[in-house]
Amino acid sequence: MSQFTPLVFSGVQPTGNLHLGNYLGAIRKFVALQATNNCIYCVVDLHAITVPQDPKELSRSIREVTAAFLASGIDPKKHIVFNQSRVPQHAELAWIFNCIARMGWLSRMTQFKEKAGKDRENASVGLFAYPTLMAADILVYRGTHVPVGDDQKQHLELARDIAQKFNNDFSDRIAELGLGVEMAVGDTTVNGYFPLTEPIIEGSATRVMSLRDGLKKMSKSDPSDLSRINLTDDADTIAKKIRKAKTDIEPLPSEEEGLEARPEADNLVGIYAALADISRAQVIRDFGGQQFSQFKPALADLAVAKLAPIADEMRRLVGDPAHIDAVLKDGGERAGAIAEKTMGDVRDILGMLR
Ligand code: TYM
Repeated sequence: MSQFTPLVFSGVQPTGNLHLGNYLGAIRKFVALQATNNCIYCVVDLHAITVPQDPKELSRSIREVTAAFLASGIDPKKHIVFNQSRVPQHAELAWIFNCIARMGWLSRMTQFKEKAGKDRENASVGLFAYPTLMAADILVYRGTHVPVGDDQKQHLELARDIAQKFNNDFSDRIAELGLGVEMAVGDTTVNGYFPLTEPIIEGSATRVMSLRDGLKKMSKSDPSDLSRINLTDDADTIAKKIRKAKTDIEPLPSEEEGLEARPEADNLVGIYAALADISRAQVIRDFGGQQFSQFKPALADLAVAKLAPIADEMRRLVGDPAHIDAVLKDGGERAGAIAEKTMGDVRDILGMLR
């Protein structure tokens, strides 16, 4: 019996304002995982249109996220980088998963509740079905590992539920066609067509918070630009935003536990730790007892040293859209070949004639 080949998949929405949270929570991990895995990284343009988008702005954002991937160090030749809408099999599998997932499962998604807000009747059907497309993104490649920030955890649990229900509903047919793959689930071994994907949510920056409010996630849609460090910010802007970041008046604690109940301090220490690739405890060992007036300039220097070269390279790449489009086209062709193989199996499993 064969086993699933490890494959890393992840996606980023082209909705403007890529920020430090996207970088530390996701993109930087994409880069690290390339050394030891086959990886597919996707600019999820079909997810972006679950809320209204200006078409010209969307094209620009697709190129900008691609530029961020490349500028951060993702190698599009060894791995695959493409935009989702180029591979229609994502949408096809999402439809099938819409028929597997239950209304109740999707109704519990906190991101839908947050994004739809009070006017739920007026949210798009796509926004409600968003997680089934996300499951399809991963499973159309039978992806086994997905690096993401903490906010995507519930969506990835749903992807596992969908995979498990598909495997159960069609277990006889999967066995009959000889398409089953063995996998461990808890203490037992089961057989299925889709893997139960593992999230990779680790490190000190799985949830980077707003610089203006330590209880709110850093987000693309926050109306205050001071709340986030954008990947396109220049050195002066990065330094200014860190200088203006909200803090309390106490110095940094001398023990890590002292960060509890101090969300803004905890956030800045977490950002420092992630950028320097050291633990929070090490940051406290180095800066414990110091005032923010000393810590903030050190953080600003570190952030500029790590982020300004990425911003420069992004600007250069965005200035050469033909190169970016060629990367996406090549990635789309290679992704499409894998996705079509999966969809052939899935159509057979369902009993579609082809
Ligand atoms: P998106 O575009 O909102 O965010 C991209 C990645 O950045 C992470 N992230 C954060 N990490 C730490 N702190 C933050 N403040 C922060 N904000 C965002 C997100 O967790 C994410 O990893 N649904 C996904 C896109 C997607 C996807 C997929 C991901 C579509 N299909 C399949 C993985 C696999 C999203 O909206 O990410």
